[in-house]
Amino acid sequence: MKLTLKIWRQKNNKAKGELKTYPIDGIEGDMSFLEMLDVLNEGLINKGEEPVVFDHDCREGICGSCSLQINGEPHGPDRLVTTCQLHMRMFNDGDTIVIEPFRAKAFPVIKDLVVDRSAFDRIQQAGGYISVNTSGNTIDANSIPVNKHDADESFNAAACIGCGACVAACKNASAMLFTSAKISQFALLPQGRIEATERALNMVKQMDLEGFGNCTNTGACEIECPKGITLVSIARMNREFMSASLEGPLSNVWSKKG
Ligand code: SF4
Ligand code: FES
Repeated sequence: MKLTLKIWRQKNNKAKGELKTYPIDGIEGDMSFLEMLDVLNEGLINKGEEPVVFDHDCREGICGSCSLQINGEPHGPDRLVTTCQLHMRMFNDGDTIVIEPFRAKAFPVIKDLVVDRSAFDRIQQAGGYISVNTSGNTIDANSIPVNKHDADESFNAAACIGCGACVAACKNASAMLFTSAKISQFALLPQGRIEATERALNMVKQMDLEGFGNCTNTGACEIECPKGITLVSIARMNREFMSASLEGPLSNVWSKKG
């Protein structure tokens, strides 16, 4: 395949970025999107030009670092895959592909296609630890009965890889799908109920402090999420937050509102 790539180039966080055009040839359908970028970079390096900087690690849909906006869609045109799992067969010979970093105030561009997603780390850190002992004198897993449906739902929520596609897809740059997945994975299990109140309050507070927008139920996040996290998670987070507010430190605020 012969393609035309329009790629966002930006020297650093302060610099003004722009889309630059790169023609590329010899791309095969079986290549992954990142392998296509490797081919481009090899060519740039051979010509003495600076390669395009992009984030990646596992290249198998696990780490969540390969976050690219491809033709306006986070992780590109395929469904339930990350950019590293996206195959070039999704494109046609002669196509023009626009490649940009994820756009959100809370995800500042570091260079070219790499953004700083440490806001997600801080949201998770705000959730704290669980007090259940998971080492040393670990108790038998079967001694705490967990309803099968809840176990499955918790497992599904834990599949979130923190890629940020939900934020990039949202017109409000809301991080509610991500935060709700991280809250849900614990909220559904008895072991996670012990700190559930503080967890919900602290994670939502940190999410707001980081400058993410609010959810307006558009649903773009769930369509673009490579791990199939759904809006049900957000509904669960809202429930957790509401009941935590009624019994936790915000209870005064709610009781004053009547
Ligand atoms: S909820 Fe989905 S889109 Fe958002 S960070 Fe997690 S895996 Fe990525
Ligand atoms: S490089 Fe790890 S998910 Fe894509």
